[in-house]
Amino acid sequence: MNRIYPENSLILAPLSGYTDLPYRRSARRFGCRYCFTEMIDAASLAYGNAATRRLLDRGADEEWLGVQLVGSHPERIGRAAEILNQHDFDVLDFNLGCPVAKVVKKGAGAVLGEDADAAAAALELITNRSRHPVTAKIRILSETDPEPTLRLIKKLIAAGAQAITVHGRIRSKFYSGPVHFDIIAAARETAGVQIIANGGVTGASTYAELRGKTGCDTIMAARGAIGNPWLFRELAAPENYSPPAPEELSDELERHLREMMAYYGETRALRVGRKVVLDYLRGRGFPGHLKERGTALLTSADFAEFMKLVRQGPAARYRRWQRAYPEADRRLA
Ligand SMILES: Cc1cc2nc3c(=O)[nH]c(=O)nc-3n(C[C@H](O)[C@H](O)[C@H](O)COP(=O)(O)O)c2cc1C
Repeated sequence: MNRIYPENSLILAPLSGYTDLPYRRSARRFGCRYCFTEMIDAASLAYGNAATRRLLDRGADEEWLGVQLVGSHPERIGRAAEILNQHDFDVLDFNLGCPVAKVVKKGAGAVLGEDADAAAAALELITNRSRHPVTAKIRILSETDPEPTLRLIKKLIAAGAQAITVHGRIRSKFYSGPVHFDIIAAARETAGVQIIANGGVTGASTYAELRGKTGCDTIMAARGAIGNPWLFRELAAPENYSPPAPEELSDELERHLREMMAYYGETRALRVGRKVVLDYLRGRGFPGHLKERGTALLTSADFAEFMKLVRQGPAARYRRWQRAYPEADRRLA
């Protein structure tokens, strides 16, 4: 079987509003090799939107980077694939799983994935016009019957998809509820291309469960890595892992935000980065007033003051609780 990713690869999912260059660098510091851009709207790219073009930035230090396209309009998808030919990516992934309103109302993402023929036709346009290896990311189409999902996968492969990531939840469940391992397993058994399993990985035990129950050796993690780049360190060597100490957490939060400021400029970095700050603090026992301050950061001076408070660490009560419940910081946003 042709493989895009070597055996036992762990991939950081495309995450809209998150997986920019500073975010990927943070994940890479903890051992993540396979990263994606955020999903890129084919129409915005085709129309030459400057902010969209910026999402294509690849750091000179990034050894492997995939790009993800979302769209439904044939001409714009084809044009977007051609624009991407001017850039270097290791994979071009086509998004057929996004459930959010602004995407599905245009007939793209998960809605397009529900129409196997239209999805395959769109993917074929991309494979015909792209110089990159093309893959797809889908959701399962039924929680009980593997057939619709297998049918979609078969058509995507016939249209040129070289690997397929399967998120084991249906569109109406968005990101909640159980992951249907058996449907992903059926896809792996029948597809004949590499199937990457996705859904619910928050730490070593959920990672082992997703691998074990789907039989997939290659896994994509998403929300479990939000505010938690240590996930990559944990999954590489679970037996030696311990969650970040408060000092390491503070250092990484500060470094991530400073890289955002260098990349976006101070004002935009702090506007975009507030949620990143809160993600690092969430579930880790920091006092509520600190989170409020984190949402009001405007200048690098505010940020420096804020970091002094973060460096005081979580409440002592929380540290006692964390020692008693070592799984405490394994959570999905
Ligand atoms: C905030 C957010 C943004 C996302 N953005 C994208 C995206 O741009 N492209 C995509 O294919 N999936 C996107 N997803 C879906 C994730 O890649 C992943 O499939 C989903 O979260 C399930 O994995 P998890 O249970 O490990 O989080 C996004 C999910 C979240 C929560």
